[in-house]
Amino acid sequence: MLLDVKNLTVNFTIKDGMVHAVENVSLQLDEGETLGLVGESGCGKTTLGYAITQLLPDNARIIGGKVMFKGKDILTPSIKKNGSLEGYQAEIRSLRWNEISMIFQGAMNAFNPVYTIGDQIDEAIRIHKDVTKEESLERIKELYDLVGIPSDRINNYPHEYSGGMRQRAMIAMALVHNPSLIIADEPTTALDVIMQRRILSEMNKIQKKFDTAMVIITHDVSVVANTADKIAVMYAGMIMEQGKIGDVFKRTSNPYTEALFAGFPNLRGERKELMSIPGDPPSLVNPPSGCHFHPRCRYAKSICQEQDPPIQQMETGQLSQCHFAKELQAGTLRREVR
Ligand SMILES: Nc1ncnc2c1ncn2[C@@H]1O[C@H](COP(=O)(O)OP(=O)(O)OP(=O)(O)O)[C@@H](O)[C@H]1O
Ligand SMILES: [Mg+2]
Repeated sequence: MLLDVKNLTVNFTIKDGMVHAVENVSLQLDEGETLGLVGESGCGKTTLGYAITQLLPDNARIIGGKVMFKGKDILTPSIKKNGSLEGYQAEIRSLRWNEISMIFQGAMNAFNPVYTIGDQIDEAIRIHKDVTKEESLERIKELYDLVGIPSDRINNYPHEYSGGMRQRAMIAMALVHNPSLIIADEPTTALDVIMQRRILSEMNKIQKKFDTAMVIITHDVSVVANTADKIAVMYAGMIMEQGKIGDVFKRTSNPYTEALFAGFPNLRGERKELMSIPGDPPSLVNPPSGCHFHPRCRYAKSICQEQDPPIQQMETGQLSQCHFAKELQAGTLRREVR
């Protein structure tokens, strides 16, 4: 197993208390596998990605859990007494870019404005590999070709790129050392549909060639339907359902997944935005008691408000965090009239 996240819980300290951004999350990824991490804005997707890559801001606190990478716990040695990840983390530094790389959400801000993009990619290459400036430039040209940026733009500054070009340059940068794992946070959201398809299919080809595993974080369920092997559906810091993509799509066992997928009649066809679910996602400072989804769930019963739902293993293989997972999957769960 490449990546094994175990019972990870991450809070942020804020003036009014704690933001419960990631709650008891476990997920696994094998070499070459793609996991799609989906869910509404603010549910904790980026925080989970940053906890794996140890890029969390100073007010983040790891409350519990482990991140095993190639069998080794890479997170625990970096956690300070107060639960933060502040300061020098030798372990992850040697892995970052080399073994695990991240494509940042809103790559517009991920590059340093005072250096050219070429210099920044060159640094990422030569920090880990003893190559000449010329060899490094060859590699950058190769990657630019892959992501569709003309190589005469290598020496431009970030502000001289369009948003989509910066996003593509970020993808190129993530690929410099053929890492075993890429965490791609909304990698194609800023791009038009044609470029999005092209980038996703290039990323898929690269993955097959080098057996790269990927976590794709996205709002867009159709991106996941077309590219991922597994899916994890997140809501208010928790993974509501996860498993093989076909099982979760065809034998849905969680009302949140069902609500999120509504409006995708043909998942492999045309790209569509998520249909909105009535109500708003809850505050993560004081999340609802019991199942966090119960205030918006069409099937919610009193137990849902009173007790945390257990994580259940379904016969079809996936995991679901719902009191009525089996009934939903069997089609015997009645909608509550409210
Ligand atoms: N540095 C921070 N301090 C306090 N709260 C934070 C911080 N960063 C994120 N949060 C909160 O943590 C929760 C999860 O945020 P996160 O960015 O992980 O969500 P997301 O699923 O990536 O959302 P989006 O789809 O909008 O990118 C949100 O409630 C957010 O407001
Ligand atoms: Mg995010």
